[in-house]
Amino acid sequence: MTHLFEPLALRDLVLRNRIAVPAMCQYSAQDGLANDWHFVHYGTRAIGGAALIISEATAVVPEGRISPADLGLWDDSQIEPLARVVRFAQEYGSPMAVQLAHAGRKASVGRGWEAQTPIPVNKGGWPPVGPSPIPFSSAHTTPVELDVAGIEAIVSRFAAAAQRAHAAGFSAVEIHAAHGYLLHQFLSPLSNQRADSYGGSFAGRTRLVIEVVDTVRAVWPERLPLIVRLSATDWVDGGWTPEETVDLSRVLKTHGVDLINVSSGGTAPDARIPDGPGFQTGFAERVRRKAEIPCAAVGRITSPAQADHIIRSGQADMVLLGREILRNPYWPMTAAHELGQAADWPAQYLRAAPRGSVAR
Ligand SMILES: Cc1cc2nc3c(=O)[nH]c(=O)nc-3n(C[C@H](O)[C@H](O)[C@H](O)COP(=O)(O)O)c2cc1C
Repeated sequence: MTHLFEPLALRDLVLRNRIAVPAMCQYSAQDGLANDWHFVHYGTRAIGGAALIISEATAVVPEGRISPADLGLWDDSQIEPLARVVRFAQEYGSPMAVQLAHAGRKASVGRGWEAQTPIPVNKGGWPPVGPSPIPFSSAHTTPVELDVAGIEAIVSRFAAAAQRAHAAGFSAVEIHAAHGYLLHQFLSPLSNQRADSYGGSFAGRTRLVIEVVDTVRAVWPERLPLIVRLSATDWVDGGWTPEETVDLSRVLKTHGVDLINVSSGGTAPDARIPDGPGFQTGFAERVRRKAEIPCAAVGRITSPAQADHIIRSGQADMVLLGREILRNPYWPMTAAHELGQAADWPAQYLRAAPRGSVAR
């Protein structure tokens, strides 16, 4: 039976187990450049034994950052500092995926621990863009509605960023189409009220995501996987739905997407989210069974037994642990120990490993 410490192959990328670190903004970059914080933060999680580390949201254009302290890949100067991080993680057995992102109408706010209110242009902020001139909340700036030329420019910047990610040594790309950021803003009728070919019907609202997938897939090596992160529901009537998530996942599968990372929410500040242990796992299971595509589950997965059960029972192919792995970067090693599962282990720490473990 498939379990938490079984390898997972996605195209030519073979992951050592089913545990991944999801994208988590560190809000610690200047001019989009990775620094020693990123090196130690990601490096520690590689030593900890995660099979895949997904970078924090990495902006494809400066205006696509959530905060001025986000990572970016809009310029060649950003390649080498990230390559240093990726090389170390890879050397210790954790290939990295880059999460390519554009924040759209949720851009230009403070770092995660600061006020989530707009930063004015004269204080280093910028005017956000979106599918329609509808602000995220009454505290947010009304976005400038993108015209078709503006949309096409963003699509090509996703591809350029993917090429830089390849140069930096990333093993996978995750396209961020969740959590109420630009691509999700196009998917959801709550934020997309366009009357042109990028709005209206399911085909119109999903068009941008599919175009981004196609342009990235065209430049991303055939042998390496492409992931899309979706919010399965807006948790609000009249919003994006789990059925649409399944339908879009079916389409994405035919466009060369290898894994759907199934999250939820982010479009509506007043959404009532039943946040509890494994609260989103059911959405991953539904996409996996109905769209027949590999899926990752995320959301308050914290215990080894819970994570192992999700894999063993076929609810998902991979589990992502966010806040739990912020608390304990060595969670995968702890889980192997608790489940009595031999694993590959840093040679330096081998004396702490379960019987049968081998040095990396
Ligand atoms: C500090 C922090 C930063 C985050 N940044 C991102 C991000 O950059 N991109 C993203 O898709 N999700 C982001 N998330 C959401 C996580 O990837 C994850 O989906 C969420 O924390 C739920 O998983 P958990 O219950 O295991 O923490 C962030 C979460 C946290 C705690």
